[in-house]
Amino acid sequence: MSLINKSFLDELRSRIRLSDVIGQRIAVQRAGREFKACCPFHNENTPSFTINDEKEFFHCFGCGAHGDHIGFLMRHDNVPFMEAIETLAAQAGMQVPKPTPQERDKYDRQDLYLKMMEEATRFFTAQLFEPNNKDILGYVRGRGLSDETIASFRIGYAPEDGQSLRNQLKSKGFSDADMVTLCLTKQSTRGTEYYSFFRDRVMFPVLDKKGRTVAFGGRVLPDHMRPPNSNSNFTPPKYINSSETPLFHKGHLVYNISNARAAANDGQPIIVAEGYADVIALSQGGFKGAVAPLGTALTETQIALLWDMIPTSDLDAIKEPYLCFDGDNAGQRAAVRAMERILPILRPGVSARFVFMPTGQDPDDVIRDQGHSGMQKYLDQSIPLSEMIWRSMTNGKSFDRPEQRAALLNAIEKTVLQIADRNIQQSYRQILKNRFYQNTNPKRSNKKQNAVPISRPNANHDLSARLILGMIMQYPALYDQYEEKLAIFSCKNPALDALRQNVISILSDTRGITHDDLLEALKNKGIEGEQIASLKKDMKLHASYVFNEDAQEDIETGLKELLDRVAV
Ligand code: UTP
Ligand code: MN
Repeated sequence: MSLINKSFLDELRSRIRLSDVIGQRIAVQRAGREFKACCPFHNENTPSFTINDEKEFFHCFGCGAHGDHIGFLMRHDNVPFMEAIETLAAQAGMQVPKPTPQERDKYDRQDLYLKMMEEATRFFTAQLFEPNNKDILGYVRGRGLSDETIASFRIGYAPEDGQSLRNQLKSKGFSDADMVTLCLTKQSTRGTEYYSFFRDRVMFPVLDKKGRTVAFGGRVLPDHMRPPNSNSNFTPPKYINSSETPLFHKGHLVYNISNARAAANDGQPIIVAEGYADVIALSQGGFKGAVAPLGTALTETQIALLWDMIPTSDLDAIKEPYLCFDGDNAGQRAAVRAMERILPILRPGVSARFVFMPTGQDPDDVIRDQGHSGMQKYLDQSIPLSEMIWRSMTNGKSFDRPEQRAALLNAIEKTVLQIADRNIQQSYRQILKNRFYQNTNPKRSNKKQNAVPISRPNANHDLSARLILGMIMQYPALYDQYEEKLAIFSCKNPALDALRQNVISILSDTRGITHDDLLEALKNKGIEGEQIASLKKDMKLHASYVFNEDAQEDIETGLKELLDRVAV
């Protein structure tokens, strides 16, 4: 929270073009819809710094620098937040609003709460290194965590005694009321006595976007390290988390957001695991983009947050966090639930991939047993959303009978109707229906599914798209195998994209047609021969092997490579 309200900042950003703010300070050149410049934040001779006015951010592919108007000024002019705002407001002819007494009060309160959480974090981390608690440190290290990891995640220990944290916070001037508000202490049910909310637990601070502690998760110690309980039937919950507080709304945050956001800006994948232990293990294993929901299933807000964390580095790239699930039945069900949360909020440029871990193993186990490359293997085997939808409807079912096939068609329709975005809905309908016709036709039922590769930035999207379309039109028989990929990439050039959609719709409706049939059908749809001739010209120049009918293998290799380049 800041003292300046968000709508003022939005207005400020919309009144001044980011490219103007930056262009007043360094040399920028127009490049299509964006601007380019040599990055002012690292040394370079060829521009890898881009500015997108529409999306109001800059991004450097060289050093990962990323931000908006305010971020640029703070860093470039080396000024604090308020001063950057004053500068921009003056330029925009706006008055920086003075906070009301209530706003100031709220801000001060927030500030006090954050200070208290920081103090508690320090208390817990210091406790872990107390000589008395060396067994507990031993347990944490024994889980394979290095001292560097322990320090960077600020892992701590909440002592058994219910008063030491309270005393420590009191000595710093914090009140009992505020401690209760932040869920650091609670009042005993019998009397009025205050005591620690977390006792005898390994502590995981939950940090907000800016890296400040806003909540805690506490893990129970393994049985043999806990004092015997008089009530032998009582098993404490494995994890407890801070409840909702003025600083913490669990559905609106993910664990490790601050580090993962920075990692995503450096091009690392966002990986969503189940909880603290997985995130920390993944991070130590080199996957710094690991995050987890906080004790609940992933919410829509959290999914939107994941997409926000991934920089829009390329207009054609798709933002795809990797969602990890256990390979068992419960994991499959959890994946379906996540899928159902995603569908309604899909929009152009975003999706998700689903990663299934070996049964009974979580990323923590995989990293420990098989290391970075082991985990990478599962990420590489991840499936895209469309495949996930398909599996959710077909897994373990048979479609031999007409009623079963009809039910599947209904399920497809019902599922795609959950997608609010009309174009995306239509694309998925097409993908799934194509798949349906393939799979319910015995001749085609054994088709291998190709794993769709991870997208990467690509300079010559348009040419690749032209070559792909040209090849498919030349050899319509290839369509079956690549229809999913063809259905989900889009061409920037509207005429080309219209051609792509027409080709797909003809080939998916009338299978097994020849090149000449296809041209005829396109002609009937009003597609001009000129556009097709120009595709042929491109192929002659850039992929002449297409016209060598004996080189089917080259053609397929070439097509695959091109599809990889434009892949989503
Ligand atoms: P695990 O049960 O694997 O936790 O749950 P763990 O600490 O790694 O335990 P062991 O040593 O493998 O048995 C994985 C994650 O799920 C969340 C935690 O964040 C944990 O890191 N979780 C688990 C909870 O939030 N609550 C629970 O009761 C259990
Ligand atoms: Mn575990």
